[in-house]
Amino acid sequence: MGRAVRRIVYDEQQIAAKVKEMGAQITAAYPGGSLLVLGLLKGSFIFLSDLVRQISRPLQVDFLVAASYGDNTFSSGNVRLLYDPETALEGKDILLVEDIVDTGRTLTRLIDLLKARNPRSLEICALLHKHIATELKYPTKFVGFDAPNEFLVGYGLDHAENFRHIPYIASLQ
Ligand code: IMP
Ligand code: MG
Repeated sequence: MGRAVRRIVYDEQQIAAKVKEMGAQITAAYPGGSLLVLGLLKGSFIFLSDLVRQISRPLQVDFLVAASYGDNTFSSGNVRLLYDPETALEGKDILLVEDIVDTGRTLTRLIDLLKARNPRSLEICALLHKHIATELKYPTKFVGFDAPNEFLVGYGLDHAENFRHIPYIASLQ
C-alpha cells in the first residue's frame, strides 16, 4: 500500500469503547429537537456509521462533500460544497461529524456556510483532535481522542486514498 505502518495508535477495542462513550454523551446532550448528524466525507464514513448506532434517540443522517477552491487540498481555506445535503437545516440541531481536526481550516469555513442556513444549533464532533488548530474559531464540542501530531490512517482516514478500510488507527513511517 505504498507507505508502511509504524505503530498502532488506537486499536479496535479502544475505538469501540470511545465511540460508545461519545454516543452516550451525544444522546444526553440532545434531549429534544430534531437531530441531523452530518458526516463530512470521505473521512468520517466509518466513524459516523459506528457512532449513530450508539446514539439512542431519533436522528437523521446526511453527508457533505467539501472541496477547496483553486486546488484539491484543504489548505487554501476556501471551501465549497460538492455535495450539499438534501435535508433542510433550518430549525434543526446539526451535529457535524469529522474524522480529524488538524489546522481547523476546513471546519471554520464549513461552519460559516452552514450557519447561514439557520439551524437551531450547530456543533462539531471529531473522533480525533490534534489540538494544533490555530484557525479554529469554533470549539469541537465532542472529541474522541487527543491525537498525537503524527500522520494517522485507518478507520476512515487515508493517505493518498489508501488505508481507509483498516479497522484500527495507525501512524505512518
Ligand atoms: P484541517 O482543515 O487542516 O483541519 O484538515 C482536516 C482534514 O485533513 C481531515 O478531515 C483529514 O481529511 C485531513 N487530515 C488531517 N490530518 C490527518 C491525518 O493525520 N491523517 C489523515 N488525514 C488527515
Ligand atoms: Mg483526507
